[in-house]
Amino acid sequence: MFKTKAILVVAFFNALLVSAVVNAAPPDPVAGKAKAQTCFACHSENGISISPDIPNLAAQPPLSITYQLIQFRGQQRKGGGMEAITMILSDQDIRDIAAYYAELPAPPAKSGNADKIAKGQQIAGAQYCNSCHGPQLQGQKHIARLAGQSPEYLTTQLKNIRSGARIDMDGTMGSAARGLSDEDIEALASYAASLN
Ligand code: HEC
Ligand code: HEC
Repeated sequence: MFKTKAILVVAFFNALLVSAVVNAAPPDPVAGKAKAQTCFACHSENGISISPDIPNLAAQPPLSITYQLIQFRGQQRKGGGMEAITMILSDQDIRDIAAYYAELPAPPAKSGNADKIAKGQQIAGAQYCNSCHGPQLQGQKHIARLAGQSPEYLTTQLKNIRSGARIDMDGTMGSAARGLSDEDIEALASYAASLN
């Protein structure tokens, strides 16, 4: 039952992606920068956001940014007013903006409590977070970069994914988050933030 639902959700997102790539011009980071002017107030021109509750976008995989913007625009994901902000973006705008942010240098590693970071590293290893998010949690394909991300943002998102308040496109991240305690989540967030 769960599997069937997951497959349907994947089919839904694939359909979205296909509709977003058919007949498309190649992503243009220069055009993307011009289109991202309204984003700079919060995510900054260099992709390092202005406050801990706003995610860094620098060096995020372009497909991850693209999918998230499509989810906000479709109101499947909500938060930070992003649903309203994305309403006016075309598929081409989204691809161009994603190309712009993806090319920027990654956010710097953040220092934190050494015990928490070590605990987070151990949990990440035991839970195979890197099998999807990459060896240094730098993200890949449609899967977000966690390295150098704001720990406050990561904590909120992990709790939202765990509770189901934030939808995830294929159910895999929901399963990964379900067994985590609040303490685990805080340790994982510190560890991810400490990477570059
Ligand atoms: C008023 C501040 C603000 C503005 C302006 C803004 N954002 Fe956001 N953005 C946020 C917040 C806050 C979140 C986190 C939402 C949540 O809690 O889920 C977010 C989330 C995102 C995410 C999800 C990142 C991830 O790792 O999942 C992307 C991508 C994004 N914004 C892109 C943009 C783009 C592109 C623009 C301009 C068109 C933009 N944002 C404008 C505040 C803003
Ligand atoms: C089977 C693959 C897989 C595994 C394993 C996995 N993730 Fe994810 N993760 C994803 C996908 C896919 C998304 C995007 C979900 C969406 O928005 O649809 C995601 C999203 C996230 C986000 C939100 C990022 C953002 O920028 O908003 C965080 C935080 C996260 N994962 C942390 C973790 C941690 C910590 C672990 C290990 C406990 C983990 N993930 C294990 C696939 C995985």
